[in-house]
Amino acid sequence: MTASEILNEDLKYTFDRCGCDGAFSESTVLITGCAGFLGFYFMHFFARLAHRLGVRKILGLDNFKLGRPAWINELADAHDDVLELTSFDVAADDLAGLVGGRHVDYVLHMASIASPTFYRKYPLETLDANVWGLRRVLDHACRQGAKGVLFFSSSEVYGSPPADFVPTDEDFPGMVCAIGPRACYDEAKRFGETLCYVFATRRAVPVTIVRPFNNYGPGMRLDDRRVPADFAKAVLENRDIEILSDGTPTRTFCYVADAAAGYLRALTFGRFECFNIGIERPEISMLDLANLYATIGRQVAGYSAKVRFAAPEEKDYLTHNPARRCPKLDKARKMLGYEPTIEVAEGVGRFLRFLQTQGRPS
Ligand SMILES: NC(=O)c1ccc[n+]([C@@H]2O[C@H](COP(=O)([O-])OP(=O)(O)OC[C@H]3O[C@@H](n4cnc5c(N)ncnc54)[C@H](O)[C@@H]3O)[C@@H](O)[C@H]2O)c1
Repeated sequence: MTASEILNEDLKYTFDRCGCDGAFSESTVLITGCAGFLGFYFMHFFARLAHRLGVRKILGLDNFKLGRPAWINELADAHDDVLELTSFDVAADDLAGLVGGRHVDYVLHMASIASPTFYRKYPLETLDANVWGLRRVLDHACRQGAKGVLFFSSSEVYGSPPADFVPTDEDFPGMVCAIGPRACYDEAKRFGETLCYVFATRRAVPVTIVRPFNNYGPGMRLDDRRVPADFAKAVLENRDIEILSDGTPTRTFCYVADAAAGYLRALTFGRFECFNIGIERPEISMLDLANLYATIGRQVAGYSAKVRFAAPEEKDYLTHNPARRCPKLDKARKMLGYEPTIEVAEGVGRFLRFLQTQGRPS
């Protein structure tokens, strides 16, 4: 299968599970942070499925802080009837001026640097996108009477929960350090959630919060510096997979096609709530994940190097790094009908096959 075929299969899987049922008919959808990992997925979703969804217009905004990926121009050219792409800083530029008299029905506010290596490098920009950028988005949604706004918060709002609170549900208030190298991200997401709450309760904006738990898959850049990208890059380059911790921290990894279905269900939910979106199992250690990439890499890409421990170059790489991260999904399951099914072994295989064949014509 080519990368394009894998992506199409994933998009169809998301479409079949997103419960949208005509929600986007004749709608204009605004996507901030459209050039990032999840941006790649949603821009392809709305562009390739525009006719089935009935979407009128997709407005993609990004400041391209970490570069302008090649795929985005190709996608904009291929879908110029529905897709409009603008270089735009959500924290500073004039949203009302950009959108003009056009009505925006749905907003996915994803603008924010999400990779720890890069948000540590750009802490003020990260704060700005999640606080001032979100404020501008909410003001605009309020003026326009949008049908749904989705704020991409993070499972990082929980900080480092004690063992009794892992798996973690939405009521856990969080144990987050306000000062430190991760705080620009964690605390900005927390403040962003407060903004959403105030706009929902005081101005009746239909904003919903999602707290993503470690997504991975097509769209994630190999130079992203998050663990799935680092491990996949090592496999494709047939280099040793380096574990930059002692291998014990655990996470649950949710394949993007599953997570996106949850995000779309939350976007069209139409009222204030916050939801964990991820997958509950397996909760996997970094060592086991590295070995999984090596094993699947051998099957998919003839990988022949090994897994080893290494010291991180960045001095703050492990500072305030949570020991465990695992969601409870009861609320999303009950209120949204969200049900992820793609376990990490299957998802890693799809991700590696996608990367291996990327660029090959479909
Ligand atoms: N992917 C995950 O597993 C995950 C986990 C938790 C939270 N999230 C959140 O979901 C959202 C999307 O995640 P992602 O993985 O696609 O992130 P990403 O870092 O890959 O992409 C974010 C995009 O936002 C853009 N951006 C940053 N500041 C901007 C600004 N001021 N104006 C316009 N664009 C700006 C960046 O240029 C980038 O293209 C983020 O808000 C992130 O914090 C994602």
